[in-house]
Amino acid sequence: MSPSSTWLRQLLTKPIRNGVVAFAAFFSLILLLQLFRNPALIGSRSGGQRWRAGVTVSAARQRSLNDVRNSTLGFERIVAINLPERTDHRDGLVLQTAVSDIKVDFINGVSRSSIQSKVLPTGHRHDEVPPWIGAWRAHMNAISHVVEKNWTSALILEDDVDWDIRLKSLLQDFALSTDDLLRHRDQGRRALSAVDTSRVPSSSPFGDGWDVLWLGHCGMELPIDDQIPVILHHDDLSVPQVEYQKSYDIKAESPLRSLPPHTRAVAYGARQGTCSLAYAVSRTGASRLLNDLGLKRLDNAFDLSLRDWCEGNNGHQRHTCISVLPQLFDHYRPAGSDIGDSEINPEDDKHRDKAYTRNIRWSVRLNIDKLLSGDKDFDDQYPDV
Ligand SMILES: *[C@@H]1O[C@H](CO)[C@@H](O)[C@H](O)[C@H]1NC(C)=O
Ligand SMILES: *[C@@H]1O[C@H](CO)[C@@H](O)[C@H](O)[C@H]1NC(C)=O
Repeated sequence: MSPSSTWLRQLLTKPIRNGVVAFAAFFSLILLLQLFRNPALIGSRSGGQRWRAGVTVSAARQRSLNDVRNSTLGFERIVAINLPERTDHRDGLVLQTAVSDIKVDFINGVSRSSIQSKVLPTGHRHDEVPPWIGAWRAHMNAISHVVEKNWTSALILEDDVDWDIRLKSLLQDFALSTDDLLRHRDQGRRALSAVDTSRVPSSSPFGDGWDVLWLGHCGMELPIDDQIPVILHHDDLSVPQVEYQKSYDIKAESPLRSLPPHTRAVAYGARQGTCSLAYAVSRTGASRLLNDLGLKRLDNAFDLSLRDWCEGNNGHQRHTCISVLPQLFDHYRPAGSDIGDSEINPEDDKHRDKAYTRNIRWSVRLNIDKLLSGDKDFDDQYPDV
């Protein structure tokens, strides 16, 4: 026994010692309960809560970030687009949202045959109704619904998306980054540990003044130079190593290849976004999209129009769109024939031996049996090599 602890024992007479022990036990219990309530909260410091390594937030910002864990992921609503005949997609999404404690409102997809050319804005070729027209209309219906209901924000999902079991924590990190990017658009590349958390955004936990948050896509370009406003999330263990990161161009190297492994990037200024499988719209963003892509002109598939609209190309003004790479949502592809993958581009009936979701390590869909049986030893699709 060391001299100092003997000294301590002499000092603490028994009743005092019991009191100290009881107090310590009570304090630990409170701390444990706090941790249990909010796993993202890993300690505290005077002047605010330590949210992540290096990131301290006020109690008010903490409450706003807690909303990101709610059943609509910090948006006012979540809308999922589903063609009623795709019962397979609907059942899958219902199950995934149930195990993730997420609530979605379904909105019907639109088939191409139901669209008359007289309702279309100018710009399309009148001699043919393009194959992507149904998807365009379905997205417009979802966006129009957000405007009509006057929601402050909504997340719009296609019905074949999948996400990581850790989605809610990942979205909380994303919210810290989007708020910082929106307030400091002139600053270049920086780390999540350096974000400014001094203010609590008023309209959304993700910050004020955004049009679109492009959370699910099948690839985008991200010039990793010091100039573009991008926030890097280092040591994000839900990010697969770059050799596993895939876009629609299956042979392309990941835009993140020059960064340390397990880095996620949140960027204002990503380019060439493709696929609109999950994106959030703000109230103003929704109205602007409905005006520009719903009523004014129609000359490209919805995702490619959204790309132009975000980047300010092809006659569009630039808008405030923030993206994330690797994406937080990706397509789930079941085993079997690939013929049902897309309503727009019919696949050529190739067989898939194994189901997958690209870029997502602890896929909810691929762990559904474990999630339903309470097994926490989740399958990692892309373990480090
Ligand atoms: C989730 O949080 C957002 C942002 O604060 C809020 O608008 C939305 O109503 C909340 N959802 C639920 C179900 O409480
Ligand atoms: C829409 O919501 C905003 C903000 O809550 C409110 O100021 C406005 O009056 C609402 N508009 C309608 C038509 O309800």
